[in-house]
This record gives sequence, C-alpha cells and structure tokens, in this order.
Amino acid sequence: FIVDGKSYSFPTLEGSEHEKAVDISVLRDQTGYVTLDRGYKNTGATQSAITFLDGEEGILRYRGYSIEELAAKASFLEVSYLLIYGELPTQEQYDSFATAIRRHTLVNEDMRKIFDGFPVSAHPMCVLGSLVNAMAAFYPDSYDGSNNTDLHITRLMAKLPTIATWSYKRSLGHPTNYPKNELDYIPNFLNMMFALPVEDYKVDPVVAEALNVLLILHADHEQNCSTSTVRLVGSSQANIYSSIAAGINALWGPLHGGANQEVIEMLEEIKAGGGDVAKYIDMAKNAKTTGFRLFGFGHRVYKNFDPRAKIIKKAADDVLNKLGVNDPVLEIAKGLEEAALNDPYFVQRKLYPNVDFYSGIIYRALGIPTNMFTVLFAIGRLPGWIAQWKEMREQKEPIGRPRQIYTGATLREFVAIG
Ligand code: MLT
Repeated sequence: FIVDGKSYSFPTLEGSEHEKAVDISVLRDQTGYVTLDRGYKNTGATQSAITFLDGEEGILRYRGYSIEELAAKASFLEVSYLLIYGELPTQEQYDSFATAIRRHTLVNEDMRKIFDGFPVSAHPMCVLGSLVNAMAAFYPDSYDGSNNTDLHITRLMAKLPTIATWSYKRSLGHPTNYPKNELDYIPNFLNMMFALPVEDYKVDPVVAEALNVLLILHADHEQNCSTSTVRLVGSSQANIYSSIAAGINALWGPLHGGANQEVIEMLEEIKAGGGDVAKYIDMAKNAKTTGFRLFGFGHRVYKNFDPRAKIIKKAADDVLNKLGVNDPVLEIAKGLEEAALNDPYFVQRKLYPNVDFYSGIIYRALGIPTNMFTVLFAIGRLPGWIAQWKEMREQKEPIGRPRQIYTGATLREFVAIG
C-alpha cells in the first residue's frame, strides 16, 4: 500500500525501518487501509459464511438468523443442523439427523478402558479432549481427513454428551449411565448426568429448556481461539476428531471457555468478603495495586453489550425463579453490573458483561458442578466447530501458516563451551 507517495509492504512493516518512517497507529486508525494481523489465520484472514458478528452494534447471527430469535424458538439440534449444513432443517431432515444421532450415542467399551486409566481427579476437560482425539483411533477411516464426513459428524454430536458425563459420574463415585435413546438430545444428556440407579429420575422441562438456550448461545462465535484452532489444525488435513479435540483443548483455558468458572469463583469471593459490590468495583479499577480482576466483563470484539449476555441475564432470573433457587451471587452479579454500567471508568472502556458473566449462575442452578461448566460450553460449541471445520475443507483452504515477525537476535557467532 502507498502512504504519502511511499510504498510499504504488509508483512515487513511492524518492527521494521518502515515502522520508524510512519506511525502505524495513524495508518491503522485513520486510513482504515491497514490491519496488522499478527497471525495469518485470525479473524481478518478467514472468509466464512457461518456466523455474523457486529461488535459495535452487539449483533450475532448464525447463517443470517438472529441469536435472539434462535434462542427463543429453536432447539439445539435444529441450530446444530443450521450451522453445519447451512439451512434450517425441514421436518424430514430434522428427523433423520436426530435419529442418526440417537443411533450413535453409545461409546465403544474400549474407550472406557482409556477413561479408566485417568486419575479420578483429572479435570473433565482434559479427559474430554483426550477421548475425542482417541475417537480417531476407533474410526480410522477418518485419518485422511475426508472420508464419511457426515458419519463422523453424527458420531461426534452423539458421543460427546455421553463421554462428557463419565468424568462427573466418576467424581461422585457413581456408576456411569448408558444413553437412553428414547429421550431427546438434551434430556438424554441430563439423564446420563443425574439419574441414579436407586431412584427414578425425571428430566425437569425447566432445566432442559434452560440448557437448550445456553447450548444455542454457545454454538458458534466466528473466529475465536478454539474455532481458529479447529480450522488451523484441520487445514493440515488432520482428521475431524483430532481437529475438534484441539478446539476442546483451546477452550479449556481460563481466558476462553474457563471464564465462567472464574466468574463464579469471583462472585463467591465477593460473597465471602461480605458482598460489598462498591468495594470490589473500586478494587477492579485499581487492579494494578489490588490484584483483583473483574471476570466476565469486556470482550475482544464487543464494544457494546454481548447480545448473549442480555439473553442469559434474563434466563438467569427466569430459571432461578422457576426452580425456586435463591442464589445470593445472582444479586451480587446484578449489583456489579449496575455499578459498572454507571461508572465512567467501565463505560469509557466499553466494559460490559459478556456471555460468561451469568452463565455459571444458571449452570449451578441446574445442578451442574463448576468443573463441568467448560464441558457444557464444549457440547454447545461442537456444532460450530464442526461447521467451521467442514467449511474450511469445502473451501479447500490451504494449510494455515501463521505469519511471524522475528524479534530475536541478529546473526551471532557460536563459541564452543570451554
Ligand atoms: C466465544 O464465544 O468463543 C467467546 O466469546 C470468545 C470469543 O469469541 O473470542
């Protein structure tokens, strides 16, 4: 590109002689011509027709359908079909998708042997990532990354909830439950999570509906850390299981899917500290000295409300009311939000609650333990990862190769020890 008659080449700009000649921030902010992508495979470098996101306006759409409408009217499997195949399913398509998934919910007993080798204390996300990768070994026709894609997609959608419940059951010292395939997708998962051999368990429709909304809200979010990981790993033609396992591992981090766990722990800390919201807001403003970090606020792309957070906040109120749960951290969360939104420090920095701020409160009300929150995120995000992997393969994207800007030493002379 050309600025003031001088030409600059994109990859060599930052850290170079050119940088000294021209103020990059002016280029970036005022000309609008320049986006410095530190990684080739980041948002600006990916063409995708799956999820539209406008961070300025707080808009999120899957395949053109607004997140508000989908969360209010659709089922998670319909949304999964929409993300993966591009259109909402007809009744016939839906039935055949849901039936195929029901038929594949059982997991090979040899996978259980792998699972049994994990320590009981293993984090469920570590177990999940490992077992999803292990699925490739059980379906070796996936190795070349292209065969039987629909069947592999069905297997992933069907088996992830089954595997996800194993860690939880074992952490309680309970036997694991086999899937009950007369149940729909979410009730089947809830039954595997909560049914006990000695008691009748009936899925509470309020719980199933709340989970339906949460899974839909988490189903895709364009090129975030885990999704770009899935695309990048898949771009080497790695099989779908290993690509999705990579996404699960990326999601596990506290800055990504692990964030709602951090939020709940923070809210508990505030509760234990007497619940004085104003005090913690001040501490967050002086984080450098207090070390207190306000989790669940702000988002890399939203400079406005995260639209998912609005829906989740309302759902938190509804679900806790309907279930008769009185969780004092909900009031603390609302208090923090109100205080922050009336404080110029947060307003100027556009720090609004994000998707992670209220979701943990709902999960907890549904009986889901904290270390399973990210697993629930993974179940929700699975169709998004699959859709992104599939799109990347169908677009015949070349192997990803992040750009590097070298910042190390120039040529040095080797001197042998001694
Ligand atoms: C997500 O839903 O993946 C998170 O909000 C993170 C992100 O989009 O960067």
